[in-house]
Amino acid sequence: MGNNLSHGTPLSRGPRTTQTPPTMRRLRHAVLFLPLALALAACEKAPAPTTTPAPGAETPAADAPPPPSRFAEMNHDQKMEHMAKVVEPKMAVVFKAGDAARYETFGCETCHVNHAPRPQDALPKLKLSGDGFEKMMAEKPEVTKFMAEQVVPAMAEVMGEKPFDPTTGQGFGCAGCHAVE
Ligand code: HEC
Ligand code: HEC
Repeated sequence: MGNNLSHGTPLSRGPRTTQTPPTMRRLRHAVLFLPLALALAACEKAPAPTTTPAPGAETPAADAPPPPSRFAEMNHDQKMEHMAKVVEPKMAVVFKAGDAARYETFGCETCHVNHAPRPQDALPKLKLSGDGFEKMMAEKPEVTKFMAEQVVPAMAEVMGEKPFDPTTGQGFGCAGCHAVE
């Protein structure tokens, strides 16, 4: 991917459900060893399993229940994995379709600017109150339209949320990634 968040970044903080910090390296291990883990789980009750786990191959997710469909309800490890396997690749397609040159190096840090755990703490703050959205549309029509029409619906989907509905004020919208006022 070329966009991994390294150790010791703020992203590796957060609630821990395993003994060791959930880093991208561990994630890669988990991903790498998942098929092996599943195979092993499947033959657990077989009399003579012919494979043994590779040394150090921890497989925390192997027999865990499937992750919740809403990102917000996932634990930290599930969030990491979902970001890497679903959010980043799917949103890369959306952003690159919007501007291939600008988002050539799209990755975690496009949203998690400077490794901020929450994009809201790092992306530009938006003024949406009053006629804020209309003003933004007038001043930066291209990016604003792109965000509202492409980014929000796609991101809502991968986050397991409904897109923001202005009539109810509910759902995943600009505030899902930006601080808004
Ligand atoms: C398209 C934007 C986007 C991209 C790309 C992205 N993220 Fe996220 N990430 C988010 C949003 C939005 C949240 C939820 C923030 C919130 O509301 O708490 C989030 C949350 C997270 C969280 C949970 C943070 C916490 O403390 O609860 C982790 C961990 C995370 N992302 C890791 C990654 C990693 C690793 C990558 C790259 C593989 C990545 N993200 C790529 C937008 C993105
Ligand atoms: C998936 C996360 C995400 C969502 C949801 C999102 N944005 Fe963004 N937005 C970004 C990222 C990432 C950038 C920075 C892109 C860049 O650097 O080119 C950005 C940049 C912008 C910019 C440019 C800021 C500047 O100073 O030039 C505007 C304007 C903007 N967004 C408006 C919106 C609006 C309005 C919404 C809701 C309709 C929205 N965004 C929803 C991720 C998001």
